[in-house]
Amino acid sequence: MHKIIIAIDGYSSCGKSTTARGVASRLGYTYIDSGAMYRAVTLYFHEKHISLSNEKEVLQALENIQIEFRPKENGDCDTYLNGLNVENEIRKLYVANKVSEVSALAPVRHEMVAQQRKMGKSKAVVMDGRDIGSVVFPDAELKLFMTADPLVRAQRRQAELLDKGNVMDFEEVLANLKKRDQIDTTRKESPLIQTEDAEIIDTTHMTLDEQIEMVCIMADMVLSSSAQKA
Ligand code: DC
Repeated sequence: MHKIIIAIDGYSSCGKSTTARGVASRLGYTYIDSGAMYRAVTLYFHEKHISLSNEKEVLQALENIQIEFRPKENGDCDTYLNGLNVENEIRKLYVANKVSEVSALAPVRHEMVAQQRKMGKSKAVVMDGRDIGSVVFPDAELKLFMTADPLVRAQRRQAELLDKGNVMDFEEVLANLKKRDQIDTTRKESPLIQTEDAEIIDTTHMTLDEQIEMVCIMADMVLSSSAQKA
């Protein structure tokens, strides 16, 4: 059967990851959380006290980083950094506060993009991030751009953090989101942009089930039109 790449970009906490995971599971595709890769690099840099302004140090550190996604019993994947499960650690606010700065570095992006392209080589992939449709897979058969009201996004992120046992003040979560939006959309290296061929999905008033359903319908349309062409 024909297989496609689904690229989901957009702001933080619009439901990209959960939607992408749900769509991948429905289609039997692999889900790749590219944000988790940047978070894992950030955690490594934090632990090793890497100076972000020292390019040599950054390049050397990147050589020592191995990121993998290993499946759990329930079918979801956890992020592993050099063999250690860092899934919970990379979601914490101290990582979130630094990740946009780390992911704005050109050597970091080049390395992650190369790894992401390898992961998508055999298609049948749903990948979410900021530059998936614009840089990583510009030829992706289905490109989506997700957005939502910042207040709703902050509520979602706060609930997600709480779910993992991290109690955070709402204003702090909102400030982090806004700061990340600002850095992600204005950075020099592959900023978050909405490409002309991407479909916009505003998730402010949508449930996760509705988001998953909508993307699956779009994927079905792409799959059946490419089957007709073949
Ligand atoms: O999706 P997320 O919130 O877990 O992503 C964390 C950060 O990583 C986000 O603030 C920007 C960066 N990122 C990126 O620059 N490019 C991607 N493809 C994915 C994430």
